[in-house]
Amino acid sequence: MKAIIQRGYGGLEVLQLAEVEKPVPAADEVLVKVQAVGVNDWDLGLMQGTPLLMRLYIGLFRNKIPTPGVEIAGIVESSGEEATRFAAGKKVYSDLSYGKFRGYAEYVCVKETELFHMPTNLSFAQAVAIPHAGLLAIQSLKDIAGLREGQSLLINGAGGGVGTIGLQYAKQFRCRITGVDSEKKQEYMHLLSFDHVINYETEDFAKSGRQYDVILDAKSTRSPFTCIKALNSGGTYVTVGGDSWRIIQCVLFKKWIAWRYNKQVTLLELKPNRGLDYLTGLVESGKIIPAIDKRYNLEQTSEAIQRFKEARHCGKIVVLVGDSTQQSDE
Ligand SMILES: NC(=O)c1ccc[n+]([C@@H]2O[C@H](COP(=O)([O-])OP(=O)(O)OC[C@H]3O[C@@H](n4cnc5c(N)ncnc54)[C@H](OP(=O)(O)O)[C@@H]3O)[C@@H](O)[C@H]2O)c1
Repeated sequence: MKAIIQRGYGGLEVLQLAEVEKPVPAADEVLVKVQAVGVNDWDLGLMQGTPLLMRLYIGLFRNKIPTPGVEIAGIVESSGEEATRFAAGKKVYSDLSYGKFRGYAEYVCVKETELFHMPTNLSFAQAVAIPHAGLLAIQSLKDIAGLREGQSLLINGAGGGVGTIGLQYAKQFRCRITGVDSEKKQEYMHLLSFDHVINYETEDFAKSGRQYDVILDAKSTRSPFTCIKALNSGGTYVTVGGDSWRIIQCVLFKKWIAWRYNKQVTLLELKPNRGLDYLTGLVESGKIIPAIDKRYNLEQTSEAIQRFKEARHCGKIVVLVGDSTQQSDE
């Protein structure tokens, strides 16, 4: 089968399309014929071996994970003898950051417990925008912040995968939602129907004097002490990622900030695929519609990752594999 193979750490030159052996599912795994892969932050991290601390997990000097690729949607091909939940031909999707990765390939083996039926109303390209970015948003807003009816919410880094799904999740609760992103994403955020948008290049949300019940931060470029100035008393700031030192500060000062300011700061530790059936339900009921930026094919994976690296995307960048390269969203 065809797969993207990573030879060491570095830039896009370490990624090559190659012919490799088709994988064989273990007893508890399902073999999936991949139709679409979602490009995201993990691809850059795995390729560059950054942040360096992550190499303890992915290989100190050489990458232990031969093929990147986190979010996949595809068709069940066959199953190991203990995996009985999915019949051949079923449309499925998964977040492979539970430890497997290897999404940029024609086939991948996925633990049966990490695999879910795809929403019936989506194409493969749309579905693949859901598992990883979607659950970062849902686990932050639902499980950590406990977002409630009518609350005010600010999303920092709102024009990306987490922001677009977080916005739609919060709309069901009639929240007032502010999105913060760059100049080039302002029009896109207006189209997505944020109630208010802020251009971080000209305005600092933390110094505007406005306060929110919940802040969801996809970039963490500011210290938690700065961000909590924009939180109401009793409010919650959740970061999903960004600058490592800012994130460490959240962990170190969490208890002190709660005691001193009556405000919660929390780092989300994503539990891959936990709540994906709930999110699938929201998608099927039309409450969440994924936004697609641009589609590539497997041969163009490097170009797709380059576009992500340059942050030119509005919504999800998708790599289509095999038959699905012909597929439309209708
Ligand atoms: N917590 C966990 O367990 C976990 C697991 C996996 C991933 N993550 C993290 O989750 C995040 C993924 O978010 P995503 O998928 O939404 O990423 P994304 O699609 O890249 O979106 C990030 C957005 O932030 C914007 N941005 C860049 N600099 C900014 C700044 N200074 N202020 C405000 N916005 C800024 C970007 O646009 P411009 O570049 O145009 O400004 C982009 O629109 C990453 O930070 C990743 O590391 C966390």
